[in-house]
Amino acid sequence: MFFTSDNASGAAPQIMAALQAANAGYARSYGADALMDRVRAQLREVFEAPEAAVYLVATGTIANSLCLALGCPPWGAVFCHEHAHVAEDECGAPEFYTHGAKLALVAGDHGKMTPETLRKALGAVGASGVHGVQRGMLTVTNVTEAGTVYTPAEVAALVAEAKAHGLPCHLDGARFANALVATGASAAEMTWKAGIDMVSFGGTKNGCLGVEAVVIFDPAKAWEFELRRKRGGHLFSKHRFLSAQMAAYLEDGLWLRLAAHANAMAARLATGLASVPGATLRHPVQANILFPEWPAGLSARAEAAGAAFYPFPAPPGREAARLVTSWSTSEADVDGFLAALNG
Ligand SMILES: Cc1ncc(COP(=O)(O)O)c(C=O)c1O
Repeated sequence: MFFTSDNASGAAPQIMAALQAANAGYARSYGADALMDRVRAQLREVFEAPEAAVYLVATGTIANSLCLALGCPPWGAVFCHEHAHVAEDECGAPEFYTHGAKLALVAGDHGKMTPETLRKALGAVGASGVHGVQRGMLTVTNVTEAGTVYTPAEVAALVAEAKAHGLPCHLDGARFANALVATGASAAEMTWKAGIDMVSFGGTKNGCLGVEAVVIFDPAKAWEFELRRKRGGHLFSKHRFLSAQMAAYLEDGLWLRLAAHANAMAARLATGLASVPGATLRHPVQANILFPEWPAGLSARAEAAGAAFYPFPAPPGREAARLVTSWSTSEADVDGFLAALNG
């Protein structure tokens, strides 16, 4: 009953087996390993983008930060949702790696910007000429921090606002697989067909040990990315261990199966919560993150039964939580948690 985060889960057995296999013998270092050739081919196929540049890093924060550095000048503003991970949970890394770009926070219910809120934010930047930052870039998170999901059409509508100002567009896909499973969209539809220029493609939260891919659809940006990654200290020497994880993750659709399971467990939780007296949900449950609220006292009851989750501020007499399911959440975890809440 461990619902604090999807990265509280271990790595899937297929990933651990691939790491063990990759440990045998010798392999070229710094991304020149044969497994990386495989990953590049796999991701180009997944994204239907034969020319795409593909790189691996170990955290979502560096994937995002390097992408933003690639797309936004130091005097630019990166438009993102007001509760985006880049704004609230990366300790200034985006500002650091962009050499000081500003984050322009965009409002929107349930973790989602709308074309209107983005247009307003875009209109508020750049008006004071040389005295203010300039419009720099858009970054969209899917799955959002509220656990909601943008459809490809919604992504395209946001991108259209940004492209009207000539801005590059990034997608933070720390939970990209969960978003695809939720919408039924293809990777291409969710990204370059909607105008996205570069993607942070998550692996860690969905069953890897520690690997994220960066997919850049304009290969002319590849060399600059490589230099930024090395200069930022994120080019792994024993790179084969990143490659092995990602290759296994993409093999035979494992990544989508793991995400489908996580989403199904969240749906099971949401269904069960509907019959917990007084329980409500703050945001629609569309992927693998839930924000329930319930009468005061229920959190302690669940914790006493062994459940772990993050509490959130709630009005008097109420309690709120964030619950995240993962590839390894079991039906028994979900049902045991619901039984505890129901007393
Ligand atoms: C939306 C989002 N982006 C990126 C990340 C990547 O973070 P980390 O640097 O911890 O891998 C996370 C992790 O919580 C996330 O939720």
